[in-house]
Amino acid sequence: MVEACRILVGPLGGQEELAMKRHFLFVFSLVTLGLPALAAADLDALMQDCNGCHGDDGVSQWTDMPTIAGLSEMVHVDALYIYQDEARPCADSDYRQGDTSRAATNMCAIAAELSEDDIDALAVAYAELPYVPATQDFDADLAAAGEAVHAKQCDRCHSDAGMNPDDEAGMLGGQQMGYLRTTFAQYADGSREQPKKMKDKMDALSADDVEALIHFYGSQQ
Ligand code: HEC
Ligand code: HEC
Repeated sequence: MVEACRILVGPLGGQEELAMKRHFLFVFSLVTLGLPALAAADLDALMQDCNGCHGDDGVSQWTDMPTIAGLSEMVHVDALYIYQDEARPCADSDYRQGDTSRAATNMCAIAAELSEDDIDALAVAYAELPYVPATQDFDADLAAAGEAVHAKQCDRCHSDAGMNPDDEAGMLGGQQMGYLRTTFAQYADGSREQPKKMKDKMDALSADDVEALIHFYGSQQ
């Protein structure tokens, strides 16, 4: 560390060099002690805002709003950077709870305000919250048909009915059906990018297959 300071600081006078060393050592010890880059209160305030739309503890009660609790860290971080790049559709949405007079906004605008540290801290915090599958009305025949399509085309990457966060592929089983329906439409019209191998499978689905899959995922508890 002292060597590194010398290289960075160069030949300075005694006092100045000491102050510099102390500064570097301070920064160094913060890093090595692993103190969170974001204060707990700041993280709380951010999550409060997210939960105004996504629901208490990130569990949604609204069909068009995805549950974000239990999403894997990697998928969550990825999604927020994609929204920062405005590379995924982000329709305006009203706040669903808390102060509902807040102006409608969207995920691209929200992500634009987040720092890298914010994004990391949010992804870790939501990954630790329990995923609660939504209780939804579904058609049992369609769900059974969807299960067969899923087993054949999707299970390889979305195991446990798409409820295994370790797959790093989002959460499908128990996700809100309105959100899933919008997502399928975005993949189909190309407005949301998808992995190449998934696209091959998606493009081969009939409209009936898609509807059946939505009911299958919606039926999962
Ligand atoms: C004004 C409402 C609103 C607020 C506030 C909000 N979101 Fe969202 N979020 C949405 C909507 C609606 C979607 C669904 C897709 C879309 O429209 O982009 C979404 C989608 C997402 C997704 C994608 C989920 C997936 O499975 O791909 C993530 C991740 C996410 N939001 C995280 C957050 C985080 C973290 C915050 C707080 C910093 C937040 N959201 C605040 C409305 C909101
Ligand atoms: C080769 C692996 C692979 C296959 C096969 C695959 N997927 Fe995916 N899927 C992924 C990955 C990785 C993601 C996360 C990246 C992304 O959001 O684009 C994902 C994301 C999704 C999402 C978005 C989840 C969210 O949180 O918004 C849906 C919906 C989805 N897949 C449905 C399906 C369906 C239905 C099939 C079968 C027809 C399928 N996938 C086949 C890898 C795959």
